[in-house]
Amino acid sequence: MRRVMIMDVFNHPIAQKYLNRSGVLHAIRVAGYAVQLAIKHDVNPDIAAKAGLLHDIGHYEWYTNGEWDYEEYVKNDIHAIKGAERAHKLLIRLGEDRQYAKEIALAILLHTDSYLPENSMKKTSLQQIVRMADEMDEEPLGKHHYRKISREDAIKKIERLDQEIERLITEYRKTV
Ligand SMILES: [Fe+2]
Repeated sequence: MRRVMIMDVFNHPIAQKYLNRSGVLHAIRVAGYAVQLAIKHDVNPDIAAKAGLLHDIGHYEWYTNGEWDYEEYVKNDIHAIKGAERAHKLLIRLGEDRQYAKEIALAILLHTDSYLPENSMKKTSLQQIVRMADEMDEEPLGKHHYRKISREDAIKKIERLDQEIERLITEYRKTV
């Protein structure tokens, strides 16, 4: 049994507040892709799903005169840094394993290099997975952040994800 389920993470007030800002459906889909990629690359699917779900919770709303300002966002965004910190705080509060919480925070920190001065850092499989999963769900001009999903459908998807991970984690534990 995992210490913290995806449902616990999803329902935490910090996650609810920031997932609504950056798109619940995008977050859930990236978590799903991250699980698929984790199996292929021999990464713990539970950690990958949590990092996928939380990867964008650092987003800030960039508005100029009430309108979303994409240029301001591209110039000044540091959502990966804020997201890593928020995710870490939330996971530790939920009682997550500290090593897992650190790995998830680092994968979120490095899921984009748009804010980094250099593009040459060597990344772990988990860090690459979260980035790939995010790119799989992306739409031009950040439209993936505005797709809608009802609370009911979100809960159903999270339940399915938890069940799948529960099944996969048994397999994963046999290999490490
Ligand atoms: Fe994203």
